[in-house]
Amino acid sequence: MASATGIPQHSPVDSDNDNGQQDDLEPLLGHPGDVSQRDNAPIIKNLVIGTGVIAEIGGILLVASVWAAVFLNGPLILFSVHPLAQSLGLLVLIQSILVLQPTHTGAQKQVGQKIHAGLNFLGIVTFGVGVISIEVNKSINNGPHFHSVHAYLGVIASFWLLAQYLVGFTMFAVPKLYGGEAQAKSIWKYHRSSGYVLLLFLAATVASATQTDYNLDVLGVKLWATIVISLLIVVGVYPRIKKQKLGF
Ligand code: HEM
Repeated sequence: MASATGIPQHSPVDSDNDNGQQDDLEPLLGHPGDVSQRDNAPIIKNLVIGTGVIAEIGGILLVASVWAAVFLNGPLILFSVHPLAQSLGLLVLIQSILVLQPTHTGAQKQVGQKIHAGLNFLGIVTFGVGVISIEVNKSINNGPHFHSVHAYLGVIASFWLLAQYLVGFTMFAVPKLYGGEAQAKSIWKYHRSSGYVLLLFLAATVASATQTDYNLDVLGVKLWATIVISLLIVVGVYPRIKKQKLGF
């Protein structure tokens, strides 16, 4: 329900915690910076409400700068798929976070979770294509592994992403693996916290990519640009976190 101020208030069926209980400690107008989806508002608006639009600008600038560098500065080779896919994958993951954050009623959460799951599938496939392309490229050219800080961060990020995806997918689709729906829901908050830290780690992985020989010699994506982009993503995503969804 929207108040006279236009800021949505919580109806009795609202719940920001996973047990579906009304949080008595929550101020009527919500927590500083968080945003709530209005009743009857299309869920797509969740992508841009509040500070979300800043994260969108960051994600779009990331794809624009990396794709421009690949198409304008480099030969198009098998390796090119890697930066194209990884930057696009990060943009997709940003959408999957932004769409779910403002949901707070049971009905909104159900729709949001399905879109989140679909976008995460798209994201993981995109990242998978990017990792396979670099690994196949290395094996064809007998390139050394772990040749840079980015290579270490990239491998850690890839495994972390896979674990995040598998835990998220199974607790959503097969909760009985965790001993039932209630137990599965009790680990959602860890999935959320891990996801927010992973987002930072992915931003650091992209920044470290600018210091690889290939980027310094050929692509020319600037470190400062990736730092500005990461800040936009952080300023856009983190103030919208509903702390009670993290169990705080
Ligand atoms: C979050 C996004 C990214 C992830 C998860 C990621 C992941 C990886 C992985 C797993 C490797 C192979 C490491 C190995 O086998 O030793 C790698 C290498 C590489 N990546 Fe990325 N990457 C990302 C973004 C980017 C971007 C945006 C660029 C270009 C601007 C890039 C450029 C490179 C280069 C040049 C290498 C070869 C470096 C080396 O082996 O020392 N990566 N990345």
